[in-house]
Amino acid sequence: MSMINKLSFGIRKFHTTASRLRKYVELTSVRYPLLKRGNFSFLSDRHLGFFQSILSAHQVLTDELNDLSGYNVDWMRSVRGSSRLVLRPKTTEEVAAILQYCNVQNIAICPQGGNTGLVGGSVPVFDEVVLSLELMDEVISVDELSGVAIVQAGCVLEKLETVLHLSNLALPLDLGAKGSCQIGGNVATNAGGIRLLRYGNLHGSVLGLTAVLANGQIMDCLNTNKKDNTGYDLKQLFIGSEGTLGIVTQVALQCQPKPSSVQVGFFGLNSFENVLETMRLSKRNLGEILSSCELIDQSSLECVTTQLELRSPINNFPFYMLLETAGSNASHDAEKLNSLLEILVNNGTIVDGTLAVDSAQAKNLWELRERISEALACEGYVYKYDVSVPIRQFYQLVEDMRIRLGNLPIRCCGYGHLGDGNLHLNITSQEYNPILLNRIEPFVYDWVCQERGSVSAEHGLGLKKRDYMEYSKSPTVIHWMRRVKKLFDPNNILNPYKIFPEQSSTD
Ligand code: FAD
Ligand code: MLT
Ligand code: ZN
Repeated sequence: MSMINKLSFGIRKFHTTASRLRKYVELTSVRYPLLKRGNFSFLSDRHLGFFQSILSAHQVLTDELNDLSGYNVDWMRSVRGSSRLVLRPKTTEEVAAILQYCNVQNIAICPQGGNTGLVGGSVPVFDEVVLSLELMDEVISVDELSGVAIVQAGCVLEKLETVLHLSNLALPLDLGAKGSCQIGGNVATNAGGIRLLRYGNLHGSVLGLTAVLANGQIMDCLNTNKKDNTGYDLKQLFIGSEGTLGIVTQVALQCQPKPSSVQVGFFGLNSFENVLETMRLSKRNLGEILSSCELIDQSSLECVTTQLELRSPINNFPFYMLLETAGSNASHDAEKLNSLLEILVNNGTIVDGTLAVDSAQAKNLWELRERISEALACEGYVYKYDVSVPIRQFYQLVEDMRIRLGNLPIRCCGYGHLGDGNLHLNITSQEYNPILLNRIEPFVYDWVCQERGSVSAEHGLGLKKRDYMEYSKSPTVIHWMRRVKKLFDPNNILNPYKIFPEQSSTD
């Protein structure tokens, strides 16, 4: 299976652009020459024989018989490993047997879900064995009354959503990659997305999970109660651990009632002050029905409309906002939104806009927001930053960066989850350009640190951001994180080279 095929299979709409993504991806070990392979075992015929003895033939993919490129390259086509083996367990017990063996044999593992991660965490750096969850894709149970779904970790988010809708339930998270990303990958990255504003993050929605530890022990934290205060809540450690503490194999998720009334509006604004005022009044006046509050700047909109040939209902504004409400009473929700818009239009905060009249129009409006990352990828190499910043400074970083970079890049744009203070700053160039990268970094991280923001709001640290952890976490916190990692994975076999900065001998 080639990378292109693997991607185009799942992610919404990617079939249209997959062929335009960059074909050649430099090996990570070449692009980052300072990275050194850990002292792990090299794969031998004996190791392979063991895996073949516990798994069926289609669960063991080797570079001799299969094209493993789709498992070695990330979605952004920015990093490439050279794994020679992909293992595809179907049960928690199979995962446990694999890890127990790898731990004893000192074999490094790279856990992989839908491989839509944006920080280079989901693919091997060198020759780590890929442990793919793709065959663990069952929805085990859905309880309409409590709203709790129990799911195998490899279940693709969109498939889970389809099953939940049958029980009048909805997911507490949604993201542009939902056609490919897996619930286990979402948990491992603590994915945010476009509904976090309404339902909070996965630390709240995940009631329980099963994880397999590096030594093969099965950690059963598959609680399904909303409330459980019996000691430390260890499952939280796996949420956002990016495959470094254990393999998540099952998830118990608190789902939400499926909203019967959804409204989507797309608006043009002339200043960032007006954006903030729209957000402030939307939160205040829409209250509990506000489900998304997203920002798109002019450059992002231009990219998505030109690269993907999408049509925007309004044009030539410096800023656009997408607001969504989700509720249970259409006339009540419409009344609330209309009275908000009356205020915003009458006082000149919103200049122009449109409200979707049906779900097809709503989908078209959402595409203008959700497909920006895909459009940017078509432009060449993307320098992607996903930061939390105080809301008043939300857009200042984009403006400062534009001045700093001048005409070096093709584009420097900003969009994101405004309602959560999460900016996606993206810069593009035709090819990877280290000179441009050095202009951006560490400036961007210094900027965020000075504002006491976070250098990774929702995508995680993976390989690409690991050296910047200290910009958002104190030395003491990093020290204790390392202690936790050592406790759970003393041999460091789980996703080595990820999350933590390289340790100097004095650390
Ligand atoms: P992968 O990419 O395969 O893996 C991600 C990390 O989790 C890796 O470190 C991997 O080792 C680990 N991992 C995966 N599965 C497991 C498991 N079962 N057990 C332990 N570790 C595991 N992210 C957001 O937060 N918000 C967004 O709005 C958003 N939108 C996106 C839109 C697009 C178009 C794309 C391409 C990506 C987007 N992302 C977004 C990033 C990405 O989709 C998320 O990080 C997602 O949660 C990754 O899930 P995955 O199954 O693809 O995991
Ligand atoms: C988004 O919100 O679109 C995603 O996080 C992907 C991106 O940052 O481009
Ligand atoms: Zn996002």
